[in-house]
Amino acid sequence: MPVDDRRRALSPSAPRGRLFAVELARWRRGPEPPVLLDVRPAGERAVARISGDLWIPSSELASRLPELPQGRPIVVYCHFGGQAAMAAELLRSRGWSSVSVLDGGIDEYSRVVDPTVPRYPEPTAGGLVLQQFPNVATGCLAYLLWDPDRREAAIVDPGRDVGRYRAAIREQGLTLRAILETHTHADHLAGHARLHEVTSAPIYLGRRSPAQYPHERLAEGESVRVGGSEIVVAETPGHTRDHLTLRSGGSVFCGDTLLPGACGRTDLGDGDPELLWESLTQKLLTLPDATEVYPAHYGPRHGLPAPERYCTTIGFERRTNEALLQPDRAAFLRYMTEGWPPKPDDFDRIVAENLAR
Ligand SMILES: [Fe+2]
Repeated sequence: MPVDDRRRALSPSAPRGRLFAVELARWRRGPEPPVLLDVRPAGERAVARISGDLWIPSSELASRLPELPQGRPIVVYCHFGGQAAMAAELLRSRGWSSVSVLDGGIDEYSRVVDPTVPRYPEPTAGGLVLQQFPNVATGCLAYLLWDPDRREAAIVDPGRDVGRYRAAIREQGLTLRAILETHTHADHLAGHARLHEVTSAPIYLGRRSPAQYPHERLAEGESVRVGGSEIVVAETPGHTRDHLTLRSGGSVFCGDTLLPGACGRTDLGDGDPELLWESLTQKLLTLPDATEVYPAHYGPRHGLPAPERYCTTIGFERRTNEALLQPDRAAFLRYMTEGWPPKPDDFDRIVAENLAR
């Protein structure tokens, strides 16, 4: 981690700062520990808590601000960090300048710092158990979903190194029924071909995909069955023409259509900002605020361990996402087309390879 980034992460006065679990642990052992504030509801706190903290549920925070100690830095935490980020924004808006968010929440704290802090039960999406696979080299995310009773699974956006997925499939005693790509990726070599070779599971792509290998085509409203659950397809072109968002219960796997704090670029390949605007405003943003959003990309994290699960919600992105906060369609189109860095050198090569096999 570069020194400047570390300083920012550690600095309690860093605007919109985040703090990694290992750094929180170090800070709490030091001579001037921060106030550690849990903003989760009572039900979640009953599952697990970090000792020595202060508890004010985010729903009560605005009315209980006088209970916060003055003059000390505050680190806010929740399960994964999204709720805490909103609470931190509230505190800053009310004059607290030294507020950080525990990155990855109590989940990462338990995983990285203190295994005696209990973990939440396994996350699910529409009745399917969900396992997320971050790739720290590329910042990409893949997902394995399975029916815990029938032991059938689907995988979303697998990377080329398929060993981890195969190990999980083996350990859980699963049969892979579907390999799903949300879109033609340009930031990593996809793993659908290798997984298909070893499992014979069909590869599903959006109907607009120009891929040259055998695959099943998916269109708006169609679904893929995994055990007793359905993964339902919405076409969300924009980042690419063939882009799909896959919904399972109250969760969506939206590829690069909607990322935490951003949207996937539309100025590369066959992207189209007008289509992305339609996809966002007419599809994703019509979903309830509580909808959990699982993106295909989380961005680099300076080589530090990735948290167990990257997840945001429609409501949080609706309120905080820079692209979504553009005041109107014209501003959004400008935002998506101006000021982006040049096309990555390996963009065309990766796209060509991902379409070929
Ligand atoms: Fe992408």
